[in-house]
Amino acid sequence: MERTLILFKPDAIHRHLVGRILTRFEEKGLRFAGLKLFQPTRALIERHYEVHRGRPFFASLVAFMSSGPLIAAVLEGPGAIAVVRKLVGVTHGQQAEAGTIRGDFGLDQQYNLVHASDGPETAAAEIALFFTPEELASYERVTERWITRRQ
Ligand code: CMP
Repeated sequence: MERTLILFKPDAIHRHLVGRILTRFEEKGLRFAGLKLFQPTRALIERHYEVHRGRPFFASLVAFMSSGPLIAAVLEGPGAIAVVRKLVGVTHGQQAEAGTIRGDFGLDQQYNLVHASDGPETAAAEIALFFTPEELASYERVTERWITRRQ
């Protein structure tokens, strides 16, 4: 079972889109292993986006992401990392396919509603950056066997 990290960005929260976006992940069959709202420090955001340091949009991205509350979630399921990236769509809302979260709800490159881990190593590092092991739950839903035959 694979785990991935999602961040609901401040635009998703201010635009009242969190519930609708969460529903898409739930409806797909993914299971929440962690979920919390918090006010991030600048240092945490800079660490999370360290790979983008030096890019022209870095300062603006850090200011945006540390401006408001964030909601972090850990989602799990078979192939969760790729499945979530597909549901989210490409970075720029104008290029994202209709039917994806960014394609349906966004028009911008920075205000693109959610962040999703892009591979197994980043997922593990990002989950560890935003959650302690005690904040994550392992459990089975009664519907599990109707969602996947592999458990
Ligand atoms: P995310 O998937 O969280 O990964 C890095 C983020 O940087 C990205 O979503 C956007 O919010 C932001 N970003 C990427 N490219 C640009 C850009 N050209 N201009 C502004 N923001 C960007």
